Amino acid sequence: MCGIIGYVGKSTKAITKTISCLEKLEYRGYDSAGIAYINNNQIIIKKERGRIEALKKELDFNTNSNLAIAHTRWATHGDANNINAHPHQVGHVTLVHNGIIENYLELKDMLEKLGYTFKSETDTEIGCAMIDYLYQKNNNHLKALNELTKILKGSYALGIIFDDDINTLYAIRKDSPLIVGINKDEFFIASDIPAILEYTNKYITLEDNDIAMINNEVKIYHHLKEVKKDIQSFDYEYVNQDKGKYEHFMLKEINEQPAIIYNLLNENLDNNLKDLPDLTHYKRIDIVGCGSAYHTALVAKTLFEEYASIEINCYIASEYRYQRNFYTDKSIVIFISQSGETADTLACLRKVKDHNIPTLAIVNAYGSSIAREADQVIYTKAGSEIAVATTKAYTAQVTILSLLALKCAYKKKIITSLDDIKESCHQIKDITNKLIKNTDYLKIAKKIYKKRDIFFIGRLIDYATALEGSLKLKEISYINSATYPAGELKHGTISLVEKDTPVITILTYDAIKDKTISNIKEVKTRGARVIIISNQELDSQLYDDLIIIPKVNIFIQPILTIIPLQLLAYHVAKLNKCDIDKPRNLAKSVTVE
Ligand code: AGP
Repeated sequence: MCGIIGYVGKSTKAITKTISCLEKLEYRGYDSAGIAYINNNQIIIKKERGRIEALKKELDFNTNSNLAIAHTRWATHGDANNINAHPHQVGHVTLVHNGIIENYLELKDMLEKLGYTFKSETDTEIGCAMIDYLYQKNNNHLKALNELTKILKGSYALGIIFDDDINTLYAIRKDSPLIVGINKDEFFIASDIPAILEYTNKYITLEDNDIAMINNEVKIYHHLKEVKKDIQSFDYEYVNQDKGKYEHFMLKEINEQPAIIYNLLNENLDNNLKDLPDLTHYKRIDIVGCGSAYHTALVAKTLFEEYASIEINCYIASEYRYQRNFYTDKSIVIFISQSGETADTLACLRKVKDHNIPTLAIVNAYGSSIAREADQVIYTKAGSEIAVATTKAYTAQVTILSLLALKCAYKKKIITSLDDIKESCHQIKDITNKLIKNTDYLKIAKKIYKKRDIFFIGRLIDYATALEGSLKLKEISYINSATYPAGELKHGTISLVEKDTPVITILTYDAIKDKTISNIKEVKTRGARVIIISNQELDSQLYDDLIIIPKVNIFIQPILTIIPLQLLAYHVAKLNKCDIDKPRNLAKSVTVE
């Protein structure tokens, strides 16, 4: 999704600093980039379709400038082209925007009647014109921005320059993240904190409808009253945006999993799970997330229900926020998010909080909106994840949820000792490393990478993992894949299975193994190419390829099961020469709904 950076300070290197911060936002996904900077009292705008690299070629980094705003655009309204790219400029106002102005057509109509004309197809240009109109009406920058907050519908983070106040950077936000970075003699605005860590780890979080006025100092206004904000310090691991020896961030992140899983499991088990919340007090538990985060909820459902006897309701955030929700006086809602900024998940959190229901967030990004706003937060400690397709954050989320389920089972005395599981967790790093290294995933990928349709099947917890494996394949290789509970295939979809159709089957869940084997036979009989991921040897008549994963305690099993699917997706995408770390159309941090 769009990324915003702004700089104002004593340094004349505003262009260099802004662009180097903007590059830290590349991971979010974008299709054009732009910058506006002040030079010789003029506002200069440069923008280019494609990567920041293309924009850099248009810039002279020796140009002196003390103030700049820059942007990576992930197209929503209008194609990815130079005209629609940000910054936009109308009248006195130049700005960059992240979010969606939902009432832009209505505002456009009004502004056109007032004589405004527009060059782009974007909602942003309308917002820009609206500020210009309000500024001319109020003859005051702050009053104009304050009135804007009452008019705009939707979500926005804006970095703004007025042409008659070129030493001041204005910033404003609602439902899209924006922070103000603070350093000696210089200030930044940014969509996330890691983007500015090269320069400072001190920052102020802007809340909805805060207006920041930044020149040689920072002043924050809320409804025209100046408000004092605490300066926070980001003291966590520096974002390592270096691929090291790996060809892609995704592969690097897959290989980071053994240590992350090991640390999370052992640090919690060593103290008998005492730092984790006890969920046995609740009568109703909802888990909410999007994409892979939602899949982790489905994995957790089996563990909680079958092994801790606690019912779990899983919801996709974009649905949950608009549906009727059923709470009891003993409800808790758990929110799963890598970025902690996903617009739908954040909106659900706010909705639930409005009902005074306790909230728990399982989040990877420190200091993110969801982490800040939930009543309790558990960090997944996976380190920064750069590849758009999540791998290590997913396994870290599954690990935390598995530990929460284990704690419930232990509390309820369904499990009476943690000794066995502790023992196997000490081996988990080696086990996971071997799983990554000892199988020739490339060899299997070569057999399926040219296919246009692939099916994934499994039952219960294996179905949940199959959904995630299928999403991995779709997002990075662009191969269509569909996932079914294994017993459901014959109710329609099996008509699509023909000779050599790949059917990837997950088979780790003993309780229902024989049923899934019958379903494998059904597709095999119809000529399917069957690839099985299982934690046991099987009759060779059942499969074309068998990937054996170690058999471990059920609370740990799903953490391992996904890894072969991540690697298969990776190799299939690589064979298809896809842009693995930045798949087309996708954004890492989905900050619009
Ligand atoms: C996973 O590979 C995806 N890129 C995506 O489904 C992601 O999990 C989803 O957008 C949720 O993001 P979040 O965890 O940052 O909230």
